[in-house]
Amino acid sequence: MAFLETIRNFFVPGSYYEPELIVPAPTMAYSIRPLTVEHQKQVLRLNLRCFRKGDNYTKYTFDYLLSEPRTLGYRVVTPTDEMVGFAFVMLKIQNAAHLTTIGIAPEHRRRGLAIDLMRHIEHGLKNRDVGTIMLEVRVSNSSAQDLYKRCGYTIVQRVNKYYSNGEDCFLMMKSLY
Ligand SMILES: CC(C)(COP(=O)(O)OP(=O)(O)OC[C@H]1O[C@@H](n2cnc3c(N)ncnc32)[C@H](O)[C@@H]1OP(=O)(O)O)[C@@H](O)C(=O)NCCC(=O)NCCS
Repeated sequence: MAFLETIRNFFVPGSYYEPELIVPAPTMAYSIRPLTVEHQKQVLRLNLRCFRKGDNYTKYTFDYLLSEPRTLGYRVVTPTDEMVGFAFVMLKIQNAAHLTTIGIAPEHRRRGLAIDLMRHIEHGLKNRDVGTIMLEVRVSNSSAQDLYKRCGYTIVQRVNKYYSNGEDCFLMMKSLY
């Protein structure tokens, strides 16, 4: 649980953002590429668009994730290299990994991009002999829970008041063996 405490401290209460008019993007082919420190500004912008209601990761947290050698970053890009999705996963001890965050730009949602990204991440983890992946999700975030369940994750615990606004989280896990 000490690890959960560490991750929770990365959040700060998010600011209020005006509602955004979402126009679905045209159909296109996407690719998944590494997310590195050179993409810091893009990922910060996308993070703010993805997490509008509550806790956002801070610039400090992204700087940490982008510089921490045991953290893997991924971005989903359009043919013009625009970042429309991102995820970070931290490699832990005992062949485990922690999905730290995942987001898809609103105008590119419900196209299977998050599922593709999760599969890509899991494939990379299996190649590193990682056997277990875990994540936390707000109890109110039913769309993300549906995504994770579709990807084979199971709720193993409810953690009281995990988020800074007092909301509980579900701890979800999946075996990659
Ligand atoms: C959650 C999120 C990453 C999903 O991205 P996405 O690319 O739209 O997801 P996919 O198209 O791959 O959806 C896969 C499945 O997840 C579930 N799902 C995704 N979005 C959903 C929604 N809004 N409502 C219900 N189920 C949803 C569905 O089962 C979906 O399959 P279907 O489209 O065939 O019904 C995206 O909505 C997002 O960025 N949300 C804000 C950030 C966030 O909450 N991240 C997770 C933090 S724990």
